[in-house]
Amino acid sequence: MKTIIEPFKIKSVEPLRFTSFREREAILINAGYNLFNIHADDVLIDLLTDSGTSAMSANQWGGMIEGDEAYAGSKSFYRLEQTVKDLTGFHHIIPTHQGRAAEKILFSIIGGEGKIVPNNTHFDTTRANVEISGAQAVDLPVPVSLKPDVKEDFKGNMNLKALNNLLGKKGPQRIPLVMLTVTNNSNAGQPVSMQNIRATSELCRNYGIPFFLDACRFAENAYFIKIREPGYEKTSIRDIAREMFSYADGCTMSGKKDGLVNMGGFLAVNDDELARNARNLLVVTEGFPTYGGLAGHDLEAFARGLDEVLEEDYLKYRVRSVSYLGEALDKSGVPIYQPPGGHAIYLDAKAFLPHIPGHEYPGQALACAIYLAGGIRTCEIGSVMFGKTDPHSGEFKAARLEMVRLAIPRRVYTQSHIDYVIECIGEVFQKREKITGMRIVYEPPVLRHFTARFNPI
Ligand SMILES: Cc1ncc(COP(=O)(O)O)c(C=O)c1O
Repeated sequence: MKTIIEPFKIKSVEPLRFTSFREREAILINAGYNLFNIHADDVLIDLLTDSGTSAMSANQWGGMIEGDEAYAGSKSFYRLEQTVKDLTGFHHIIPTHQGRAAEKILFSIIGGEGKIVPNNTHFDTTRANVEISGAQAVDLPVPVSLKPDVKEDFKGNMNLKALNNLLGKKGPQRIPLVMLTVTNNSNAGQPVSMQNIRATSELCRNYGIPFFLDACRFAENAYFIKIREPGYEKTSIRDIAREMFSYADGCTMSGKKDGLVNMGGFLAVNDDELARNARNLLVVTEGFPTYGGLAGHDLEAFARGLDEVLEEDYLKYRVRSVSYLGEALDKSGVPIYQPPGGHAIYLDAKAFLPHIPGHEYPGQALACAIYLAGGIRTCEIGSVMFGKTDPHSGEFKAARLEMVRLAIPRRVYTQSHIDYVIECIGEVFQKREKITGMRIVYEPPVLRHFTARFNPI
């Protein structure tokens, strides 16, 4: 059969609330045109993020009841620890409440003034945690990743030439580790090839610099390697994932993505001293080392999710259903980042709204227009998130790409929900000339996209 179906049936449902155009106009004004400020009840289809929004399986919910809530030595922790060790081969598994808590602990220890951390592309929380430690976060994506309309298999790759230059110039004294984000969320969820992971690892070893993965979407990345990289067609997803991790010295993980849970994360490392320091910080900021910031039932559901996410039928459906959305939008002429990524479709807001310059935030304007048209919540990944105004010269530096991310929660929406999204965005595209830019009227000092307020121009 050619039709790829959801490899699950639905046991429990959650009603959606419909709002009128007039209601949504008022909701947007109240929210300061920031979709993070909107009450979830006022959203019909929520594509803000794929993080923590997965539907758990009956097996995971069963695990929630069985979760061991012991303060110390919870058997659910040991189950998670064993699952992660089997998958990654790392020696020390340090549970945290989510990915950024793992990042905070890692960069508090190895970051600091004068240090530089290269990454294919930092996710916003990773960048913030590097920078808050005093270190500099440097993105080294491959040049083709900046061309939204070019279709290539592994646009998430690290730019090895640029990395080699940087490592050669600054060395292990300045560079405490190199990170590779798989898949590359800030670069349209594009995958990284095994060849690139291996080569990045080799470069790091040559310079004596540790190599870490930001492994939030390791299973989706492994699936892309299976279907796109010669030599892996017959390898199981688990073995591909194991090989990916085998090249690294550690990883940070947000279980809210490929852990298929609503809360959870971990830091995994091989280095004993780094692990000791991390656990010392963990006790202060997260909790005892056998629970981190998590309840026993979270640890249990996380362990089960990490097994389920490796099922090939699930990954086939996951990647295919995301590309279904991308292909339909492309057919209607809507400019998207090509090819579709693993967890989301990214609209190319610059091409969608060429009349709105970067400093008027085309991505934010588009995200608001889509909400207004159909109650669909999306996320700007452009100059609101990554643009900067120089405090001295007042000069505005736009983000390299202006995108709106339609992140697909795992196992949550059906094909008819996605058909509605396709229709709605198609209509917004027809009326795109009427959309105007945005002005920021309030912004906090860091991670401004979460709380900034806007007015339409
Ligand atoms: C690539 C990447 N790294 C790190 C994080 C942070 O994870 P968390 O939201 O669990 O703190 C995210 C979250 O979206 C992410 O996409």
